[in-house]
Amino acid sequence: MQPTTPFPLKPFNTFGLDVHARSGVILSSEHELDALRQNAWWSDSMPRLLIGEGSNILFTTDFDGLVIINRLKGITVQETEDSWLLHVAAGENWHQLIQWTLQHQMPGMENLALIPGTVGAAPVQNIGAYGVEFCQFCTYVDTWHFADGHRERYSAEQCQFGYRDSVFKHALHDQVIITAVGLQIPKQWKPVVAYGPLKVLGDNGSAEQIFDTVCTLRQSKLPEPSVLGNAGSFFKNPVVSAIQANELKNTYPMMPCFEAPDGQRKLAAGWLIEQAGLKGFSLGAAGVHREQALVLVNLGQASAAEILALAKYVADVVRQKFAIQLEPEVRFMGASGEINSLRAIQ
Ligand code: FAD
Ligand code: EPU
Repeated sequence: MQPTTPFPLKPFNTFGLDVHARSGVILSSEHELDALRQNAWWSDSMPRLLIGEGSNILFTTDFDGLVIINRLKGITVQETEDSWLLHVAAGENWHQLIQWTLQHQMPGMENLALIPGTVGAAPVQNIGAYGVEFCQFCTYVDTWHFADGHRERYSAEQCQFGYRDSVFKHALHDQVIITAVGLQIPKQWKPVVAYGPLKVLGDNGSAEQIFDTVCTLRQSKLPEPSVLGNAGSFFKNPVVSAIQANELKNTYPMMPCFEAPDGQRKLAAGWLIEQAGLKGFSLGAAGVHREQALVLVNLGQASAAEILALAKYVADVVRQKFAIQLEPEVRFMGASGEINSLRAIQ
C-alpha cells in the first residue's frame, strides 16, 4: 500500500471542489488495515482524514495530510426467527445496500433510499430521511483505532445516536476507522408513511412503492451531485425551545414545526431560508438551490471561499429575521483536519 502524492480530492467530494491532499490511499481490505501503521511512510502525528464518498464534507482548503478512502466491501447475513442480521463492510455504498435488501426480500430500510455515501459514514451522523433513522436498525458499529490498531465493537447504545449526531462526532472523533456495521431488519415489516408526501400510500403501500416514491421525491428536490455539486442539507434543522417556537408560530402561523426530544421543537431550516427570500439566491458561483433552499450548490467552478461566504450570508440573514442561529450539518475540513463549522460562518 503506497500513498499517491499529491492526491486529487475532486472525485472524492460531492461539492466538486478542485482541492488536493498531500497524500492519499485507498483502503480495500481488512488486511491492509492491519498493516497500515507498519508502513514506513506512516506517522502518528500526521493529519489524517477518513473519507467515504465525500458527500457530507466541505474542503475549505487543500488538506495537508493523508486521506484514507474507505472501500472495504462485503455483506453477510444471518437469519433468526424474527429478523435478518446483516454485517456490512463500511465501504459498501448505502443506496446499493438498500436495493440489495429489497432484492433479497428484506424490506424495512426503503425510506432511506438514495442517500449518497458509504455504509461506514451512516452511523457518524446517524443518517435519516422520511421519518426513519439509521439508529433504528443499528445493532453495533465495528471500529479500528488509530492510536494502537486495536479493534473494538460499539453497541448501538454506546454510539449515543441523536439527530445527525453520534459518539463518532465527539469522544471518538478522529480516533477510529469504522470498518463495518451490524444491522437488524425485523421480519415483521411495517410501512413508515407518516411523512407528508408518503401519506398517500397509506398502510397498504408496499416497500417497493415506498422506495420508488422516496426516489422520485428526492430526485425532484435534491440536486444530483454529478450535475450540480452539493453535500445535501447544508444546515441542520434548528431545535429550539417550545416557547421560542410558539412565539415564531404566532408571527408565522404557516411555519412548519415538529416535536423534538425533551419538549423542544424542530423547525425547518429550508423554510426559514426560503422565507428570508434566499431560495435561488447566488453569490459568485455558489447558490441556494432553487428546489430546496436547505441545499447550497456549486453552480460551476465555485471555490470553497465562495461556498463559505454564501453560508455565512444565509446564516446572517436568517439570524436577523428569525433570531435563530443556523448550524452547518456539513463537516468543514481545514488544512490539518476538521474545523469548527459554526465559527467558520460567524
Ligand atoms: P463522507 O462525506 O466521506 O464523510 C462524512 C464524515 O464521516 C467525515 O467526517 C468522515 O471523516 C467521516 N467518516 C466517513 N466514513 C468513515 C468511516 N468509515 N470511519 C470513520 N469516519 C468516517 N444525509 C442524511 O442523513 N439524510 C439525507 O437525506 C441526506 N441526503 C443527501 C442528499 C445529497 C444529494 C447529498 C449530497 C448528501 C445527503 N446527505 C444526507 C448527507 C450524506 O449523504 C451522509 O452524511 C452520508 O452518510 C455521507 O457518507 P459519505 O461516505 O459520503 O461520508
Ligand atoms: N421547505 C420550504 N422551502 C424549502 C425547503 C423546505 O418551505 O426550500 C419546507 C417544506 O415544505 C417542509 C419543511 O420545510 O414543510 C421540511 O422540508 P423537507 O421535508 O424537504 O425536509 P428538510 O427538513 O429540508 C430533512 C433532512 C434531509 C432529508 C429530508 C427528508 C435535515 C438537515 N435534512 O430536510 O436530509 O432528506 O428531511 O426526510 O435534517 C441531509 O441531511 O443532507 C438531507 C438531505
